[in-house]
Amino acid sequence: MARKTPQADVTHCITVIPGDGIGREVVPAAITVLDAVSAQYGFGLFWDEKNWGSGFYKRYRRMMPIDALDQIARTDAVLLGAVGDPDISDSETLWGMLIPIRRQFDQYVNLRPIRSLPGARSPWSSGADIDFVVVRENVEGEYSEVGGRSYRGTDHESAYQQAIFTRHGIGRLTHYACRLASQRRGRVTSATKSDGLIHTMTFWDEIVQEVAAQHPELQLNSAHIDALAASILTDPEQFDVIVASNLFGDILSGIAAAVVGSVGVSPSANLNPERRYPSMFEPVHGSAPDLVGRGIANPTGAIWAGSMMLEHLGHRQAAEAVVDALTAVIAAGTCTPDLGGTATTSDFTAAVVAELQDGRQSLIIAPSKRAAEFGRVCPRRFADT
Ligand code: NAI
Ligand code: MG
Repeated sequence: MARKTPQADVTHCITVIPGDGIGREVVPAAITVLDAVSAQYGFGLFWDEKNWGSGFYKRYRRMMPIDALDQIARTDAVLLGAVGDPDISDSETLWGMLIPIRRQFDQYVNLRPIRSLPGARSPWSSGADIDFVVVRENVEGEYSEVGGRSYRGTDHESAYQQAIFTRHGIGRLTHYACRLASQRRGRVTSATKSDGLIHTMTFWDEIVQEVAAQHPELQLNSAHIDALAASILTDPEQFDVIVASNLFGDILSGIAAAVVGSVGVSPSANLNPERRYPSMFEPVHGSAPDLVGRGIANPTGAIWAGSMMLEHLGHRQAAEAVVDALTAVIAAGTCTPDLGGTATTSDFTAAVVAELQDGRQSLIIAPSKRAAEFGRVCPRRFADT
């Protein structure tokens, strides 16, 4: 297997945040697979692991240290598991970590590929030919800090939350979606609700149309979010690229993940397409407190997110090899219980590594040993410490 490429002296420094719950189970699985594939393709990955998240919060009343964003800025990418703890409000965990990272590093595209996995049990679509991508706006829209509560504790208590849509934000997202569609099957579906949301969504529709008009080779459709969600259930094969606001994209990708089998299989990339800042890669699922410690969490979404990270870092062949191995292992019937199988997280991970190496398990190198071998440990991270 002569798979070494000319990238042999490249080492990337990755901030790893396993986070909470099953994040701590699926991220090690992803690292095992990524170490195996990077050894095969001849590049290095240094894992700069952080214990940030809800455990950190319980000690220090914050999800991550004050200088966390500076620490991340010195690395090439972030691999994240999940955050969320039954004892802490979800808004605290989300706004204390994920949203600051997405916004500080202008990760305005949230890319969520949805592909059918032959062999995975799905209530809707086993064997169907589903292959689309949700391009979700990731830094503005409905998830906004502008708002508040008034008259707390009285009969007149009220809550306000201001959605924020900008020409700049919708425009650059749509450009990204159009460029992606031109490399795929040329179809863009825009998620809207301009019948009800007469200010923000009519504005969304206008900008999406303006930008799509600059790509006359593409076919643009606009669909109301409710009908679109139903079509993802009834006719998912028709979609190619779906462009959606922050809230709509979040919901649609959750539905779509269930259609192809389980929320456990879907990956997500939070991209700064201009590469001015590190991008962040994570599975779509959360911390799944119901599964913690049982050893049966599906690591597919985390491993696939790792593959998207490799592609972003310039290792397309290695990235494709990982997705091919995942697909082959699931098709051969090695699945975790969410997909109808009996494999544990570690059985599945070992099968993916074995598939990558055509049955040769010996290439796995422990992360600590790798860092020493490469001898170039996170140069930027340590440059000023
Ligand atoms: P969840 O994704 O954690 O779980 C939903 C359902 O899917 C559960 O039944 C769970 O067992 C199952 N599931 C999830 N991941 C799986 C996997 N890898 N393999 C097999 N089954 C899997 O969503 P939920 O329950 O709404 O949220 C739990 C916590 O996670 C909350 O605190 C929430 O805020 C947080 N969360 C965090 C996210 C993130 O870090 N990006 C995303 C979504 C939720
Ligand atoms: Mg979500």
